[in-house]
Amino acid sequence: MAKIYITRQIPESGPAALRAAGHDVVVSEKNGVLTKDELLEALKENDPDAVLCLLTDKIDAEVFDAAPKAKIFASYSVGFGHMDIAAASERGVTLTNTPGVLTDTVAEHAVAMMLAATSRIVEGDRFTRAGKYEGWGPMMLLGTDLKGKTLGILGAGRIGSRVAEIAHHGLGMSIIYYDIAVRDYMDVIGATFYDTAEEVLENADVVSIHVPLLDSTRHLINAERIALMKPSAYLVNSSRGPVIEEKALVAALQAGTIKGAALDVYEDEPKLADGLAALENVVITPHIASATEETRGKMSDMAAENIMMFLNGGTPPNIVEKK
Ligand code: GLV
Repeated sequence: MAKIYITRQIPESGPAALRAAGHDVVVSEKNGVLTKDELLEALKENDPDAVLCLLTDKIDAEVFDAAPKAKIFASYSVGFGHMDIAAASERGVTLTNTPGVLTDTVAEHAVAMMLAATSRIVEGDRFTRAGKYEGWGPMMLLGTDLKGKTLGILGAGRIGSRVAEIAHHGLGMSIIYYDIAVRDYMDVIGATFYDTAEEVLENADVVSIHVPLLDSTRHLINAERIALMKPSAYLVNSSRGPVIEEKALVAALQAGTIKGAALDVYEDEPKLADGLAALENVVITPHIASATEETRGKMSDMAAENIMMFLNGGTPPNIVEKK
């Protein structure tokens, strides 16, 4: 029997499977993100053999050292930018994530945000609720069509390629993309590869971001690169906040450098950059792209499976390593 510490309540299927396998599972009772001190204290107190953590926990050297017996930290997330891979490997700690199970859900959210921005759905909702709707108007809340337009994908991995597929087959958009390598599977939808992000930004009517947060992708979208976009273009981000220099995006949206944006993630979550929430031409959701009943259950199962496999002496299927 091993002791497993879970940093916050998650859907019950994963913890239940761990308990059914005979493990002692302790779940943080705080209804919220543990502060660094609370996390360190909880780890010292519980001295777990494994930790199931979240994307809101900063998992670094100090945390590993507070739980010296825990040789696996399994994150309930596909993103892994919150975990220090180098510090983990120095200490022989295995890190895992939950790829694959949230691909369709996040892709659907990205497409929903794109449609919400171009069809002005959230703005229209706000307008109507505020009692401003006084009758149909020929020039009221005009949006942007997507059929025949070009979607630029930055990062054509699992999620990016699924967004491309939905936009191509479902909405009749042409696809262009940038990634660190040509992705042959993008040929099926006739997607065009560009070997710089700049070319995608210059040519797309909507840009959707699907890169992981790495040193090389931090502020990939900055003021200079936003300035390359068409004034009629939209920017959609469901990856990680720091990929966009949020202050620069706010300035561009205020100045009309681009037409609109849709964001599910923020540079300094849960804070928003000054001025962002006051803008009409941005759709903002609270990091919920993977938040469906089905997917969050599968993420819980997958994080638990990674732990069980490791504790049984096997190699967990979803190890995160430095690329
Ligand atoms: C969500 O952002 C995730 O990384 O799972």
